Amino acid sequence: HEIDAAQHNADKGEFKHYMLKEIYEQPDAVARTLEMALDKGENVKLRDDFLQRHETQLKGIKSVQIIACGTSYHSGLVAKYWFESLIRVPCSVEVASEFRYRNPVVVDHSLVICISQSGETADTLSALRDTQKQSPTGLVSLALCNVPTSSLVRETDIFLPTLAGPEIGVASTKAFTTQLVALMLLVLKVGAVQQRMSEERLSTLIGELHQLPGQLYNSLNLDAPIKTMSEHFEDKKSCLFLGRGLQFPIALEGALKLKEISYIHAEGYAAGELKHGPLALVDKDMPIVVLAPKDSMFDKLKANMQEVHARHGELFVFASESSQMVAEDRLHVVHVPDVCEILAPIIYSVPVQLLSYHVAVLRGTDVDQPRNLAKSVTVE
Ligand code: G6P
Repeated sequence: HEIDAAQHNADKGEFKHYMLKEIYEQPDAVARTLEMALDKGENVKLRDDFLQRHETQLKGIKSVQIIACGTSYHSGLVAKYWFESLIRVPCSVEVASEFRYRNPVVVDHSLVICISQSGETADTLSALRDTQKQSPTGLVSLALCNVPTSSLVRETDIFLPTLAGPEIGVASTKAFTTQLVALMLLVLKVGAVQQRMSEERLSTLIGELHQLPGQLYNSLNLDAPIKTMSEHFEDKKSCLFLGRGLQFPIALEGALKLKEISYIHAEGYAAGELKHGPLALVDKDMPIVVLAPKDSMFDKLKANMQEVHARHGELFVFASESSQMVAEDRLHVVHVPDVCEILAPIIYSVPVQLLSYHVAVLRGTDVDQPRNLAKSVTVE
């Protein structure tokens, strides 16, 4: 199916690579995905027909188990923060290749969410089947998937689509941001049917969601400064990505993107874990990318950045405009437009995508088809 789609949409247009084209398609892809649940305009309610057929199922669930691989796993990690902090529904997230082999307990009344761009990832499908074999009471399975005709969609109770359009680049970009958007819409829907969220909170978040496509569009203006920043990475062997809270999964995703397409070793870390290991790696040759929106964790993150700076690490910080962070020796800053804290992981995905893209181009790697990797991993 994906190959058909690739042929259909084979035109890279003005873009040198599919990956860059797909990064730039994000404002539209996100707008389309939002339209599943929100009317255009400033309406502050979810559409009545959004997941309407499944309201009874969603009303009954007491916990969420997310299963996925690769980039899709990272969107699941963001959703865990949302499910728990916004609507107090317990949520676990696990990579499918671990979940399927450890004989996990699937509790009654779980919503099992399988996140997959392709819907054909062997480990994810197999993990789903294992949960179904256990047949716990009230199990509901949901596919969050970009391919409506996929095996995953056929085998689950609920299909929540990402409307990213065909994604050709092996490194996932627009599928990731649309997964995040769809997961947020699902959190709002569960919150609404289970009355776990006040009308006021719901309408504020929907108001913020309406802003997303425009904010994503603005974040693409960071392309030029990030391209300049990327020159510092060309000869590096290793790199750290740091974030806290909702930005921790984006740090993981940033590191994954960089290693996938530039072949630079990269690790994402929760900044609060610095002292427990990675600080030992920091020296003047180690670039450290930090996701630093001005949110409730910003002051703590600043302290983490100082720890790195004091050890001669070179910091590359994506910070909110309002953070007033300024560049200095060994501290490079790219300012990201201010966005609400809850949705910031969606916006901060863009700078890490652009950074890895430009580093890979400088290093002359095959951006759309990195060595040893496949778009869809249909065998174990
Ligand atoms: C491969 C791709 C990744 C993707 C992962 C999961 O590793 O290269 O980009 O995130 O599979 O794929 P899925 O289709 O299940 O999201």
